Amino acid sequence: MPIIAPSLLAANFLHLSNECEMLNKSEADWFHLDVMDGRFVPNISFGPMIIEFIRKATTKTCDVHLMIEEPEKYAEEFKKAGADILTVHIEACRHLHRNIQQIKSLGMKAGVALNPHTPVDSLADILHEIDLVCLMSVNPGFGGQKFIPFTLEKIKQLRKMIDDRGLNVHIEIDGGVTLENAQSILDAGADVLVAGSTVFKATDPIGMIRDLKQLS
Ligand code: DX5
Ligand code: ZN
Repeated sequence: MPIIAPSLLAANFLHLSNECEMLNKSEADWFHLDVMDGRFVPNISFGPMIIEFIRKATTKTCDVHLMIEEPEKYAEEFKKAGADILTVHIEACRHLHRNIQQIKSLGMKAGVALNPHTPVDSLADILHEIDLVCLMSVNPGFGGQKFIPFTLEKIKQLRKMIDDRGLNVHIEIDGGVTLENAQSILDAGADVLVAGSTVFKATDPIGMIRDLKQLS
């Protein structure tokens, strides 16, 4: 069974409490929280203040995806806000190893996200240090974009790297995940599905989460 991580970027922020309640009632495993700074990506979303409110509204895992420059400046603040998993972009980290150690020493799980153009090979020397790889299947910054098909090849390569080394690292796919392409993503070797529009724009979000969860 996949881990389902709805992205609240597509939620109705005027009714955030209802959206959290809906996810709490659903089979969703994680809350995927997208932080954007308008520098690393051409969009601005929300920061620790909103995550602190969301943290109080759920006991589920808060999976925080930082699409920001200099993430090391904010790691502690996101820990205080309630992040369980903190994911940084490899493209935003000049000292990735140090950034990973910082996240883990603060007591969070450490994730590394890769933009579509970044090869999975770039993780070769850090894979054993991390808990999650977030493969971006769209260019980060916006919800509702179309899945980039080449991601399936990257998932297969990464799955092989992880299995060959006997590691236990999540492969999370973020962007353009739908009920139609989710099975092929899982078949390629991913185990965490992020879904923004697919969940929140569905007529029955709880039913959509159930359908995604039932895939194998
Ligand atoms: C994009 C974000 C995603 C986004 C996915 O930069 O990282 O998490 O919310 O949205 P959908 O599922 O609509 O592509
Ligand atoms: Zn994301």
